[in-house]
Amino acid sequence: MYDIAIIGGGPGGYAAALYAHNFGLSVALVEKERVGGTCLLKGCIPAKAWIESAAVYSTVAGAAKFGVIVPEPEFSWPRALERKQMIVEGLVEGLSGLLGSRGVDVIEGFGRISGAGEVAVTKTDGTESRIEARSVILATGSEAASIAGYEIDGRTIVTSDHALDWTEQPDRVAIIGAGVIGCEFASFLAEVGTEVHLFEMENQLVPGMEPEAAKVLERSFRKRQINMYLGVGVGPVKTADGGVVVSYGDSSVEVSVVLVAVGRRPLTSDLGLESVGITTEKGFIATDAATMQTSAGNVYAVGDIVSGSPQLAHVAFAEAIAAVTFIATGRTAPVEYNAIPMVVYTHPEIAWVGRTAAVAVAEGYDITTTSHGMRGVGRAIIQGEIGGTVKVVAETDGPILGATVVGPGAGEMIHELMYAVGWEALPSEAAAFVHAHPTVSEAIGETLMAAAGRGLH
Ligand code: NAI
Repeated sequence: MYDIAIIGGGPGGYAAALYAHNFGLSVALVEKERVGGTCLLKGCIPAKAWIESAAVYSTVAGAAKFGVIVPEPEFSWPRALERKQMIVEGLVEGLSGLLGSRGVDVIEGFGRISGAGEVAVTKTDGTESRIEARSVILATGSEAASIAGYEIDGRTIVTSDHALDWTEQPDRVAIIGAGVIGCEFASFLAEVGTEVHLFEMENQLVPGMEPEAAKVLERSFRKRQINMYLGVGVGPVKTADGGVVVSYGDSSVEVSVVLVAVGRRPLTSDLGLESVGITTEKGFIATDAATMQTSAGNVYAVGDIVSGSPQLAHVAFAEAIAAVTFIATGRTAPVEYNAIPMVVYTHPEIAWVGRTAAVAVAEGYDITTTSHGMRGVGRAIIQGEIGGTVKVVAETDGPILGATVVGPGAGEMIHELMYAVGWEALPSEAAAFVHAHPTVSEAIGETLMAAAGRGLH
């Protein structure tokens, strides 16, 4: 009998398995493929590897303006693919080693709950075994969704799963959905010379993020000749000679491949949930936010399958920690959902934490917002990246509720604002600290000073 049986070896599942070590708990981790999940195998890591290769290419291509004269660079798609794969393999191997060294039993096969405290595991050859455990953590993750008329064939109509493994650079791509995945792909593909057509049914890129940040991204995309179709619904796709045609309104565009990026749906069917009385809503599982417990006492859920929780690897880590802490100690370690950083790895990079202005207003706050552009920030000018901005949302005469950063290193810089939001700092308290000069982070310092009513520059 194990202390914990975990179904799913992605960030939610493997983090739970690793963290359980702190309490000396015995763990079985059931995984049908390799450990790593969407993040390591088909998401965060491979995508960022592509994005980094594209960024290096574009830095070299623009080197002359820094006084560095190089021959015109060439983007080698196969080499970038190879490097991406090497990074993924290295991390999967490292993770497998870490799980082994922590004494986690990784069991290969498809896991489903077969009764209270029991998980049935079916191997690919059809043989079945059973595991008994005091607690079960469901961490089965999600898969790319599609829309009517866009049958995923992996060749001309694909999801990010396939696009990350393209062996050749596509000439012309239509991307359906300008959410996080759509914009990250659009950004790096355009950077290396693919013609991109980006369709979004809402009126802004990455709906839900601060509109000012979306505008900066839109300007940058326009400069790079990305064709954007915002507030546009697409009609069904048709195949044509050597390509595919995406129609919208009375017009259409022919491309070599269509990438569908319209969200991800939870993988919760065929998990035996009914055997312990767990119900789902649109596939998601409701949990107690403090403990990650489902309606069936000793069954927990973490990661992309959790109802109302953002589908992010770092959220899955935090939910795994909350579940394991409760299982091991009976104490709660709730996830600070109000201070989760979100990073969009586009060029420019965009990151935010806490509430946007619109969300704060919708929640009934009386707010004051303060913004500061990067145009006058020395380090940003030196880096040749002056299109960025910082925006802080605070309750009027109250604490910082959220913030957005656009610009070089935004994904790193957001964490100082994470503490400000998490600790409910007043702008004046956060502004009292001095930022090093010259840094891009000074833009945050300037915004905080202005938010505290005494701006410097
Ligand atoms: P998403 O929910 O971020 O974006 C999907 C977009 O597709 C939305 O803007 C939606 O309005 C649009 N859309 C839906 N149907 C459409 C249609 N018929 N025509 C045109 N547009 C349509 O989902 P996405 O980008 O697929 O990402 C999935 C999940 O993965 C998200 O939860 C995201 O947070 C996560 N992720 C996070 C990353 C990061 O943290 N950097 C990177 C990639 C994914």
